[in-house]
Amino acid sequence: MKIAGGIPLKGVIKAQGAKNAALPVMAACLLLRGGELALDNVPDLYDINTMNELLSALGVVIEKNADHVVFKVPDELSYEAPENLVRKMRASSLVLGPLLARCGRAVLPLPGGCSIGSRPIDLHLKGLKQMGAEIEIKDGVVYASTRGRLRGRRIYLDFPSVGATENLMMAAALATGETIIENIAREPEIDNLADTLKCLGIQVELDGAGGVRIRGNDQASSGSCRVIPDRIEACTYILAGVMTGGEITVNDIIPAHIDSTLAKLEEAGARFKVRRNSVIVYPVKRLKAVSLKTMPFPGFPTDSQPQMAAALSLAKGVSMVEESVFQARFLYAQELNRMGADIKISKDVAIINGVEKLHGARVRATDLRAGAALIIAGLAAGGETYVEDMVHVWRGYEAIDEKLRSLGAQVELA
Ligand code: UD1
Repeated sequence: MKIAGGIPLKGVIKAQGAKNAALPVMAACLLLRGGELALDNVPDLYDINTMNELLSALGVVIEKNADHVVFKVPDELSYEAPENLVRKMRASSLVLGPLLARCGRAVLPLPGGCSIGSRPIDLHLKGLKQMGAEIEIKDGVVYASTRGRLRGRRIYLDFPSVGATENLMMAAALATGETIIENIAREPEIDNLADTLKCLGIQVELDGAGGVRIRGNDQASSGSCRVIPDRIEACTYILAGVMTGGEITVNDIIPAHIDSTLAKLEEAGARFKVRRNSVIVYPVKRLKAVSLKTMPFPGFPTDSQPQMAAALSLAKGVSMVEESVFQARFLYAQELNRMGADIKISKDVAIINGVEKLHGARVRATDLRAGAALIIAGLAAGGETYVEDMVHVWRGYEAIDEKLRSLGAQVELA
């Protein structure tokens, strides 16, 4: 993407459906036997296409009409996730729980590491074993099976992993009796999955304090649900508005989902108004440095850390940004430094010495959110920025070039 920077953004856009909510909710269709799951507000993204390919490979028939997608699930499903798709997207591991619960077997190549750090699925496997699954790992492939149905029980997660919570909730949906999972992730995407499971006829109660109780059924029934708005995409645009000294409105969001980011922006001196379903950003000259640490929800999201760091690279003073969720999520720093930022990494902390100006440069998106951070930095920088490896960005941002152009940005795809 070629960006002619330095133009304050102006206008109104709407947030897309959330990638990270859509992926597990789509995987939940595998719980059906001869039924349908209809979803609204499904974003058009590479990762969503990968999940569509994976579900198709397992036997699901998918009918798309803009953001309305219907998943038709036959009586018989394949239980082997193809390696090429699992390699493309780590979230492919979300099919493990529902496939095992529904087919009694599942084969999943291990997703392996990725550029933001090692991402094991040991917590997923531990929980499934506790529910009675037999799990064997041979040559990097997980073979899971169960004699009869999985068994509901109490599970305590050692860490509130988003993916493990989702996989285990889906597995519990078809288990015998009641499953109680403690210390679960509390991200809004979990509520969206709970609502979807309820639409499929499963009793699910989130206690709001890190626990969920699920009464398993012997089968799921057809249903329909809506994907929540993408809080990370919304914050990327809000930060782009702030960084360019622009005046923009981001509509169709749930402000309560982005409280931690808005709180940090307020502390940094940004001006904005929060309405029922939107945020309006007003221009400010320069942010003040702030410090933050990423944490599971409702803490500051790791997925907004690179974009926030980009904004803080122009703030007055020194900001400390600590990453506590992933081990290696600072690869964007050396790219931002090519644009004139002054960021030093010391273990899990980025020390950001705010500069007055950034300048355009040729930079490389090393992962999805790193790419987003470089794009918004490019919008605020003087001169031209080229962001290479946009393939990462398309995994999570629908029509980002068109949306930015509608806000007055000069961006072009090469
Ligand atoms: C999800 C999001 C991702 C986000 C992350 C944290 C999706 C598709 N992806 O990823 O965008 O950055 O939540 O908010 O929703 N861990 C283990 N063992 C496990 C599982 C996780 O050690 O079995 C560790 C991971 O290595 C990582 C941390 O726990 O350090 C958080 O991972 P997790 O919450 O599981 O993230 P994902 O579900 O992979």
